[in-house]
Amino acid sequence: MAGTGVFAEILDRDVYKYYADGEWKNSSSAKTVAIINPTSRKTQYRVQACTQEEVNKVMDSAKTAQKLWTKTPLWKRAELLHKAAAILKEHKAPIAECLVKEIAKPVKDAVTETTLFSFDFFKVVRSGDLVSYTAEEGVRILGEGKFLISDSFPGNERTKYCLTSKIPLGVILAIPPFNYPVNLAVSKIAPALIAGNSLVLKPPTQGAVSALHMVHCFHLAGFPKGLISCVTGKGSEIGDFLTMHPGVNCISFTGGDTGIAISKKAGMIPLQMELGGKDACIVLEDADINLVAANIIKGGFSYSGQRCTAVKVVLVMESIADALVEKVNAEIAKLKVGPPEDDCDITPVVSETSANFIEGLVKDAKEKGATFCQEYNRDGNLIWPLLLDNVRPDMRIAWEEPFGPVLPVIRINTIEEGIHHCNASNFGLQGCVFTKDINKAILISDAMETGTVQINSAPARGPDHFPFQGLKDSGIGSQGVANSIKMMTKIKSTVINLPTPSYTMGNGGHSKL
Ligand code: G3P
Repeated sequence: MAGTGVFAEILDRDVYKYYADGEWKNSSSAKTVAIINPTSRKTQYRVQACTQEEVNKVMDSAKTAQKLWTKTPLWKRAELLHKAAAILKEHKAPIAECLVKEIAKPVKDAVTETTLFSFDFFKVVRSGDLVSYTAEEGVRILGEGKFLISDSFPGNERTKYCLTSKIPLGVILAIPPFNYPVNLAVSKIAPALIAGNSLVLKPPTQGAVSALHMVHCFHLAGFPKGLISCVTGKGSEIGDFLTMHPGVNCISFTGGDTGIAISKKAGMIPLQMELGGKDACIVLEDADINLVAANIIKGGFSYSGQRCTAVKVVLVMESIADALVEKVNAEIAKLKVGPPEDDCDITPVVSETSANFIEGLVKDAKEKGATFCQEYNRDGNLIWPLLLDNVRPDMRIAWEEPFGPVLPVIRINTIEEGIHHCNASNFGLQGCVFTKDINKAILISDAMETGTVQINSAPARGPDHFPFQGLKDSGIGSQGVANSIKMMTKIKSTVINLPTPSYTMGNGGHSKL
C-alpha cells in the first residue's frame, strides 16, 4: 500500500516529503500542495510546497554529488541502476495504486506503466526494464570514444591526433508530465545517471506521489547523497526558479505549451522537449477496416485520449468513411466508462480545467455542424467517448488537441488533402497511415512532417529504445534510450600534436629518426 512498509519514511502524517541530499524532508515553508483525485474531485494526497531556498540547496548538493559521480566507474553506475530497477519492479503495486488515485489511470494501464508485457510465467516491468536497458546501453555507448587523424586538411598531414569522449553535462533538470509521471521520469533519470550527471526531478503536481514512490526506489538502491533529488511545490513559487536556475545544465521536459515558455527562458543549455501533438491517422481506400478501427480505439481512446501520441484526427478517404465510422462506433459502444478502480477503459480526465477545455472544443464543433456519432455526456471530470464525423477545418477540434476521449473525423478525397491537413498543423509529433500498398505508405511517410510515421499501426512512443522526436511545436531533440544518453553528454576532445608528420616514419620516410 502507498506510503506504508518501505515507503513509510516518505510520508509524515498526511503529507509526502520531498527528497534532498539523500533524505526525506519536510519543507520549511510549512505549506503543502493538494493533489485532487480526478474521480472523487476531493483531495487525495498532499505534498510539500518547497521554497526557492530549498531549491538552491538541492542544486548545490546536485553539483557536489555530480563531481564525484562522474569519477564513478560505468559498471558501478550500471550496477546501481539495475538495483533500482529491481526495487521498482518489486514495488509496482503501491506505485500503480498512486497512479490510479492521482491521475485516474485505469488499473490495467497503471500496471502497464510499470509493466509492459504480461506473460504466463513472468512479467517484465516497463519502467524497471527501461532503467536496466539504459544501464546496459550506457555502458556500451559511453565506453566508446573516437579517434581522428588530421590528414584531410592541408598543412596538418598526420600531425594531429584527436581523441574524443563523451562527458556528462552536469545537473539535469527532469520535468515529466502528469500522464506518465513514473515512466517518463525514469526515461530521463536513467540516461542522466548512467552518463555521469546528477538529476533534479520536478514531478507534475498530479502524479507527484507516484513519482516520490519511484524516487524512493532509487534511494533504496543506494545512490550517493544529492545525486538524485525530487522537489515538489507550486509552479508559481519554484517553476521558473528551477528552469532558469544557473545550476541547471540541461532540461528534459515532457508536457504541454509550458515547454515553449521554458525553451524561451532557459538560456544556453541543451534542451530535450516533447510538447504534444495532433497525430493524424490517414486511412486509404484499401486499408483493412478492422485493423484501422482497432487502432483508432487503442490509439484514440486508451487512457481516455490523454497521451501525446494519441490518434487526434482521422483523415479517411470518403469512399470508405461510412464503413470505418460504423465500425469505430460499434467498438466505442463496447468501451467501459467509469472509475479507474473498476478498470474502465474511459476514466475521468485529469482535472476539471481539462474537462472544461474538452467541452469547449465539443461545443464549438456542435455550433459549426459536426456530426455527433454519440450523444455528448459528461459527469464531473468523466467524459464519455465521442466520435465527431464530418469535421471541417474551421472547427477548433480539427487543430487543437483535446487530450480527452473526443476524436474528430475529417473526410478526404485525395491523399494530398490528407497530407496537407497533417502538415498544416503546428504540431509534428507522429502520424500513421493505413494501406496495403507499402510503396504509397512510404511516400506518404516521407511527405508527412512528423518525427515518426507508423505504417498500419497507431502512433506510440515505445518500445522505449526507439527514437522518439517531434518536429515543429512538438519538441526539440530526440528521445529513446540511446538518444537520451547521448543528449545528456557533451563531446570532449584531446588533441595530440606531433612536431613532424607521422608518415615521415618507416619505409620511404624522411624523418631524422
Ligand atoms: O504522452 C506522452 C507520450 O510519450 C506517450 O507515450 O507510450 O503512450 O506512446 P506512449
